[in-house]
Amino acid sequence: MAELSLSNIVKRYGAFEIIHGANLEVKDGEFVVFVGPSGCGKSTLLRMIAGLEDITGGELTIGGRLVNDVEPADRGIAMVFQSYALYPHLTVEENLSFGLRMNGNPKADTERRVRHVAEILQITELMKRRPKQLSGGQRQRVAIGRAIVREPQVFLFDEPLSNLDAELRVQMRVEISRLHKQLGTTMIYVTHDQTEAMTLADKIVVLRAGNIEQIGAPLDLYDDPANQFVAGFVGSPKMNFLKAEVAELQAGKATVVLSDDRAVRLTMPVSDPVVTSGTPITLGIRPEHFSEAGQGDADLTVAVDVAEHLGNTSYIYANLGGEQLIIERPESRSLGKTETLTVSLSAGRTFLFDAAGKRLR
Ligand SMILES: Nc1ncnc2c1ncn2[C@@H]1O[C@H](COP(=O)(O)OP(=O)(O)O)[C@@H](O)[C@H]1O
Ligand SMILES: [Mg+2]
Repeated sequence: MAELSLSNIVKRYGAFEIIHGANLEVKDGEFVVFVGPSGCGKSTLLRMIAGLEDITGGELTIGGRLVNDVEPADRGIAMVFQSYALYPHLTVEENLSFGLRMNGNPKADTERRVRHVAEILQITELMKRRPKQLSGGQRQRVAIGRAIVREPQVFLFDEPLSNLDAELRVQMRVEISRLHKQLGTTMIYVTHDQTEAMTLADKIVVLRAGNIEQIGAPLDLYDDPANQFVAGFVGSPKMNFLKAEVAELQAGKATVVLSDDRAVRLTMPVSDPVVTSGTPITLGIRPEHFSEAGQGDADLTVAVDVAEHLGNTSYIYANLGGEQLIIERPESRSLGKTETLTVSLSAGRTFLFDAAGKRLR
């Protein structure tokens, strides 16, 4: 087991900079998830940690040792990819033992480790099969097993569940969580799926275009996003962003009105000196944070566009000044027959952002 430290890590391909100085501390035994949209640099960052990509600038330490120029095989890491990369002509057992055999590990120890891993992953009965005789989920389990037998100090996962169907993804997600509890090994996991990030991570690192936007525990990101990007990325369905402006500013309190319904006024404390009266801003509210009409600080009436009824909950897609709005209501089957819906907003459950997406507090 080991802790990791990234200090001002930069990656450039020629003149093109992909990672712009990443700083991150990963504690021993921590489960860290890198999340962000496709192309934001998650894999590049992970591959630099693995030693599969050169580090252009900055320092990477694993277990207190500077490893910038250490070979991948000598970093004490094991990596699991989206493509399982199993040897098709070898059995499950041979796939699991391959690396140890190549390293000349004692036979008895190799057999013991392979047996142990097969038990942990419940694949003992599959040992004589070849990869093509396995389901996608079983193959992914073998790929993970191949990483475990190496008994690494750090596991690195790059979108390991992307090739699985939705149901299996949920199941494997739970298994990976259980595995982390059981092994207690440091894990770094890359995904573009915010649900995976929220459910797996001790600590989430949100990336955008090669920059770390925020680092925090899943619910801290949900409750207290640093900016509009993180606010929109964490949570499902995503946060609504409504055009608004500051109507009044008095004694550290701002009164905000919605641009498309100026009768909707919310008053909240704002210490940010950037805000002045008349400033156009964005008001963020999560679909699940609307309440019953009359129960919040200001009521809003919208035209219902589409109502989705999931049994336990309903998603109402509504229209406000040409912008789509998603409202989550506890099971409300009759909705959709009505033309309009009135809900309530509370100042304490909304977020303010400036035109650049910076959070106003
Ligand atoms: N070998 C390379 N040469 C040039 N650009 C690359 C190379 N590999 C990745 N990139 C670019 O780096 C950026 C980040 O890629 P990547 O780390 O794969 O993103 P992610 O894993 O978040 O989807 C992308 O814009 C990609 O085009
Ligand atoms: Mg990637």
